[in-house]
Amino acid sequence: METRILPCTKENIEKAAHLLRGGELVGMPTETVYGLAANALDETAVSKIFIAKGRPQDNPLIVHISSLSMLESLAAKVPDTAFQLAERFWSGPLTMILPKTAAVPSSVTAGLDTVAVRFPSHPAAQALIDAAGVPLAAPSANRSGSPSPTSAQHVYDDLQGKIPLILDGGSCTIGLESTVVSVAEGQITLLRPGAVTAEQLASIGAEVTIARAVCEQLRPDEKVLSPGMKYKHYAPKASVYILDCNLADFVRYVDAHPQEDCYALVYEGEEQALSIPSVTYGRAEDSLSQAQALFGSLRKLDELGAKIVYARCPSRQGVGLAVYNRLLRAAGFHQITL
Ligand code: TXA
Ligand code: MG
Repeated sequence: METRILPCTKENIEKAAHLLRGGELVGMPTETVYGLAANALDETAVSKIFIAKGRPQDNPLIVHISSLSMLESLAAKVPDTAFQLAERFWSGPLTMILPKTAAVPSSVTAGLDTVAVRFPSHPAAQALIDAAGVPLAAPSANRSGSPSPTSAQHVYDDLQGKIPLILDGGSCTIGLESTVVSVAEGQITLLRPGAVTAEQLASIGAEVTIARAVCEQLRPDEKVLSPGMKYKHYAPKASVYILDCNLADFVRYVDAHPQEDCYALVYEGEEQALSIPSVTYGRAEDSLSQAQALFGSLRKLDELGAKIVYARCPSRQGVGLAVYNRLLRAAGFHQITL
């Protein structure tokens, strides 16, 4: 099938909503990354997502809503803590895992009795959900295993010929996927860090626990809280090594380990210090700029044919934890501390 990229005009959003109501898939811009949307209540439409992405059947999807009344049809029980989080962080880059109702097909939740719900802030995403009149199941719109798409072109590069339409909402302002939490009364477990930080979550007065898998590799026998955590994910084709050190030691290490098709993934303004070619991902000390650039930079390294990549190690504070979490997975947990 032919894949069209169209701007987010009212007419095109209506066109996209019509496709969604007919059981088709649409590439949808959000403030985090582009999503691959289907009617969340239509089992057949949802199954097309798994086929188009090559996604393992046991990895559940996030359901996107554009009003709190939609939440009631999806979640069987909403703890007060979840309402407090909704009040403070919705619409925005926060996904909550809640007990599901019978209306949510089991293919959406991969057989789990919980559902992941997110209320995106991107105006085109909200308009699309409104126009479709149903909640939209949408994982990131990449081929399973490659970095999440932060532009319509990235979606096209991965899913060309597999979906009829991509709505082009420009570059994603955040650039990393939403924060995922499971919520019980007074208790929040951070399963995937994002632009809503652990510190911000704690500000509502609940206890916040960071799942071990956020910064560490799962043991083979370990029970996984969020199925997405067990996949390598976000991986470019190159072998990535994170070098946890200052710039001077980084340069020394790279010079001492010459390799073919080797690139450095560094911060803006650091390129000149290196004797090998480099790609930048944002500014040092500016986690938001790193988040916005990271996935595009990983894709660029693939285009350049990089085989080995030495990467600067992001801060783990605030949004930096999300940047670190994604880079660590892109690196297959290869980190060298100097
Ligand atoms: O920002 C985002 O969240 C983007 C945009 C499109 O909204 N979506 C996204 O979806 O990142 P995806 O499918 O790439 O990641 C969903 C994550 C996976 O790690 C999945 O395992 C987890 O959420 N998840 C979904 N439902 C879950 C559930 N019921 N329990 C635990 N984890 C769940
Ligand atoms: Mg994804």
